[in-house]
Amino acid sequence: MRQLPLAILFVVGIVCCKLAESRTDEELLDEVERASIKFFWEQADPITGQVKDRGLASGENDPRDIASVAATGFGLTALAIAHEREYMDRAAIEARVQGTLEYIYYNLTHVNGFYYHFINMTTGERVWNSELSSIDTALMMGGVLTVGQYFKNNSVIGNLSQEIYQRVDYEWMLNGTDVLNMGWNPETGFLNDWWNRYCELMILVIQAIGSPTHPIPVTSWNAFSRPNFTYAGINYIHFPTPIFVHQYAHAWIDFRNQVDNFTIDYFENSVKATRATKLFFTQEMSTNFTNYGDNFWGLTASDTPYGYDAWGGPPLQGKIDGSIVPCAAGGSVPFLPNDTLAVLHNLRDNYADQAWTHYGFVDAFNPVTGWTDPDVIGIDVGITVLMAENYRTEFVWKHYMQDPHVRRAMDAIGFVNKDQ
Ligand SMILES: *[C@@H]1O[C@H](CO)[C@@H](O)[C@H](O)[C@H]1NC(C)=O
Ligand SMILES: *[C@@H]1O[C@H](CO)[C@@H](O)[C@H](O)[C@H]1NC(C)=O
Ligand SMILES: *[C@@H]1O[C@H](CO)[C@@H](O)[C@H](O)[C@H]1NC(C)=O
Ligand SMILES: *[C@@H]1O[C@H](CO)[C@@H](O)[C@H](O)[C@H]1NC(C)=O
Ligand SMILES: *[C@@H]1O[C@H](CO)[C@@H](O)[C@H](O)[C@H]1NC(C)=O
Ligand SMILES: *[C@@H]1O[C@H](CO)[C@@H](O)[C@H](O)[C@H]1NC(C)=O
Ligand SMILES: *[C@@H]1O[C@H](CO)[C@@H](O)[C@H](O)[C@H]1NC(C)=O
Ligand SMILES: *[C@@H]1O[C@H](CO)[C@@H](O)[C@H](O)[C@H]1NC(C)=O
Ligand SMILES: *[C@@H]1O[C@H](CO)[C@@H](O)[C@H](O)[C@H]1NC(C)=O
Repeated sequence: MRQLPLAILFVVGIVCCKLAESRTDEELLDEVERASIKFFWEQADPITGQVKDRGLASGENDPRDIASVAATGFGLTALAIAHEREYMDRAAIEARVQGTLEYIYYNLTHVNGFYYHFINMTTGERVWNSELSSIDTALMMGGVLTVGQYFKNNSVIGNLSQEIYQRVDYEWMLNGTDVLNMGWNPETGFLNDWWNRYCELMILVIQAIGSPTHPIPVTSWNAFSRPNFTYAGINYIHFPTPIFVHQYAHAWIDFRNQVDNFTIDYFENSVKATRATKLFFTQEMSTNFTNYGDNFWGLTASDTPYGYDAWGGPPLQGKIDGSIVPCAAGGSVPFLPNDTLAVLHNLRDNYADQAWTHYGFVDAFNPVTGWTDPDVIGIDVGITVLMAENYRTEFVWKHYMQDPHVRRAMDAIGFVNKDQ
């Protein structure tokens, strides 16, 4: 038999590779979750369970030993997912979760139940003079309450989860006002900044209203502003900040088909925020950076070539340069599945050399300049994992919402089914 001409072999080769690379949505998200969850396993202290704020995307070890309590909250939630999906040994996961809660409860430095934003991952000591952070404590509590429900067969985990939550003195964090303060420093007291405008604050406020021990008044729900914002004809509640503010609370709280006291559907608001973000890149930023398009859009708080920044839009924030942050789309998958999955498939299929490594997607990269962030960031890895799993199975929503205090707070606020 005659040999096939080289050119034909070449074409056949390309077609085969393309076929081999095309994944279903399920396959893609499973691959992303499996890779990303390794971050929370490998880049945590095995004794304290505290998760690094950032680590090398390559998965290599590095001497940085600073954890963020928010990353630990995403991590605990990711471990529950890993247990459910048997990504790793189940007994080892359960032991890690229990050890983490024991460390938080018995050892980790706290003030009135709140934690410092950045800590030494082995000693739990505050580092960088970071603030005692109300929102980062709330994100940690997202994980604490999720594992409390998921592992409720394990009475130690169930008990510690509630003890950790019920120790938080939310009333203290009001500092005598009707909105929660952003944090507190031992040197200077409460910060000069308040959770008084719509953003990721809903997870914190609902935990605080639901607290059986140190609640804040339910009227605090009415006390933050809901700025009216319009972009490309899309009208939604938005304070100029990147898309993550429309994602974090929704990673744990299932706001679907409900409206609150103000008849606002917050899930739908995040759908609009995602749509506006896409249009900002595909219609506005694409005039300067032609690589932005339907399958390549999205920035959010992340590393940039000039340091960590809250870049993105609308409206324009930061020095946009054609880069992309995969978790901008990744954290919005349940809101706009087709549009966001188109981005993730494109990055996985066509930018793997630059964008895909040991923990899945890199934090940020720019195909025009060739810049790639060497690090991944715990909360950015985390939001993609939690939202991917919510889109696939509603897993995080289901378990977090089983917490009776969360549900009671939402009822008290006046959340009702939209059709009622
Ligand atoms: C946590 O505190 C307990 C009791 O104070 C102590 O025995 C234990 O060694 C501490 N654990 C860690 C990891 O520091
Ligand atoms: C964390 O604690 C360990 C053990 O005491 C110490 O060696 C290390 O330098 C500390 N790291 C930071 C960033 O403080
Ligand atoms: C809890 O126990 C039930 C009944 O034995 C079992 O089906 C389930 O998998 C257990 N859950 C966990 C998280 O271990
Ligand atoms: C946790 O267990 C302790 C000791 O059994 C008990 O006193 C406490 O009430 C439990 N806490 C919760 C929130 O159930
Ligand atoms: C509010 O915080 C400031 C600064 O920490 C403090 O001086 C003041 O006493 C606090 N007020 C209340 C009512 O707790
Ligand atoms: C609901 O909102 C109205 C104002 O729109 C307010 O008067 C009322 O107190 C709120 N209810 C609760 C439970 O906060
Ligand atoms: C927000 O602004 C839009 C456009 O100006 C307007 O149509 C809408 O009624 C406003 N919504 C609220 C709640 O004020
Ligand atoms: C886009 O290019 C225009 C014209 O050079 C410039 O004025 C504008 O600042 C650029 N915008 C961004 C986001 O780089
Ligand atoms: C999403 O994509 C699927 C498959 O391509 C298609 O069947 C569906 O209609 C799309 N949904 C929307 C809302 O565009």
